[in-house]
Amino acid sequence: MTPAPETIVLDRREQAESDLAGEIAALVRERGRIVLGLATGDTPTGLYRELARLRREKLLDCSRVVAFGLDEYLGLEPDDPRTFAGWIREKVLELLGIPEGSRHVPATDVPGDLTDVERCAAYERSIRDAGGIDLQILGIGRNGHIAFNEPPSTGDSRTRVVQLHPWTREDAAPVFGGLANVPTRAITMGIATILDAKRIRVLAFGSRKAAIVARALGGPIGPEVPASFLRGHADLRIWLDREAARELHSGRPVRP
Ligand code: PGA
Repeated sequence: MTPAPETIVLDRREQAESDLAGEIAALVRERGRIVLGLATGDTPTGLYRELARLRREKLLDCSRVVAFGLDEYLGLEPDDPRTFAGWIREKVLELLGIPEGSRHVPATDVPGDLTDVERCAAYERSIRDAGGIDLQILGIGRNGHIAFNEPPSTGDSRTRVVQLHPWTREDAAPVFGGLANVPTRAITMGIATILDAKRIRVLAFGSRKAAIVARALGGPIGPEVPASFLRGHADLRIWLDREAARELHSGRPVRP
């Protein structure tokens, strides 16, 4: 039987950010070394700010934390500030003091002239070699994607190259100064890669996520809503604000 995910609905997203930052800090205090899966986007930024605050106040020491990014655009120059690698470096890794040698991002992680398939396999290997992800931070896209696992994506998918969904490109258009400039391809951890994480912690905020949150948590589990596969995970916690949760138990049929 699929375990029921723990869903926490809060008035303010800051409460979720503080809860999750507290959990991460406690895990780091307990173990010293943990492997953390990092998400990008608007959703986790407040969480990273809160973690940075804990570090400034000497309540968090990330010197033994190992970090893995979920996904990356393909086709950008490595020093392009719009790469997820650049975003994660600036907004997370530097602020948290995660050491250079413990930072991993797909696409640029493995040097040399590897094929895409070899590059993806190498990323899977480096996650395994690190001992697997202890805690994966995750957002949900408007189309139900997790990382860049766009619909349809199968539950057994692994790190691979994907074509970006039109909604994903639309959402990224402002950052790229127009849809035409948004990359069409990306590399992403697969759904099975994400489900291998020991703990999965999901954040979703705002009314634009309400419909997809209802489908992911209340609709059928399958490739059309990649986030629905999360419900098969044994240690999943989801934080929503009231807006994101508003279609969850409304009694209205979940939209197909
Ligand atoms: P967002 O994206 O944080 O920019 O809303 C979430 C996601 O696509 O995972």
